[in-house]
Amino acid sequence: MGKDVIVACDFASAEQVFSFLDKFQDEKPFVKIGMELFYAEGPEIVRQIKARGHKIFLDLKLHDIPNTVKKSMSVLSRLDVDMTNLHAAGTIAMMEAAIEGLTRPDGTRPMLIAVTQLTSTDQERMTNDLLIGRPIDEVVMHYAHNAKIAGLDGVVCSPLEADKVHDTCGKDFCTVTPGVRFADGDVGDQKRVMTPAQAKEIGSDYIVVGRPITAAADPVAAYRRCVSEFCD
Ligand code: C5P
Repeated sequence: MGKDVIVACDFASAEQVFSFLDKFQDEKPFVKIGMELFYAEGPEIVRQIKARGHKIFLDLKLHDIPNTVKKSMSVLSRLDVDMTNLHAAGTIAMMEAAIEGLTRPDGTRPMLIAVTQLTSTDQERMTNDLLIGRPIDEVVMHYAHNAKIAGLDGVVCSPLEADKVHDTCGKDFCTVTPGVRFADGDVGDQKRVMTPAQAKEIGSDYIVVGRPITAAADPVAAYRRCVSEFCD
């Protein structure tokens, strides 16, 4: 599995994202498009970024009845994204339907990864709001295992969980980890962070990096630093 740095392009408009991507002349970073940009600009933004030669992780976190997810995934697959995701809480049946929808007539499909519990959900909210009484770590690993059973390729998780996900689901089950910061950088609103080098050490397969690159004085240099710490 190729290790790569995925740049979270959390911008509000096509204009902003293109002015950011225009800075990259010699490389084509793997780009994450999230809900904000997708809902603002629609599927055309995916086609345009793809046409510039970038790989795309479309981060829309689907969660609905299996039939709806299957049909929606089939639409996303035709957009030719490289990776997309859903909530494991939608059940194994929903995840299996998603794979069916994503799979193209020629048998290929984008990578599909699952969100286990959002990092904004802590033990207290899980217990009190969701009435899930088991320890959060156990729930996260259980959801990861469900994703594996359903045939998904991996999960989004904290770099701190990557090791355990690999122990539970196997080394080939991919870990995509946000919450990455440079040793000398701002942590911002991320609570549990790791440097790209630490994420590599612990076995993350892909790191998702937003503001340390998008808000850097020199985004290209920051991207190259991530690649050299994580991939080389
Ligand atoms: O700017 P920053 O590096 O914090 O961006 C991280 C990206 O990863 C954002 O797009 C954020 O929504 C996403 N993410 C996250 N934590 C999760 C899941 C996704 O930070 N648990």
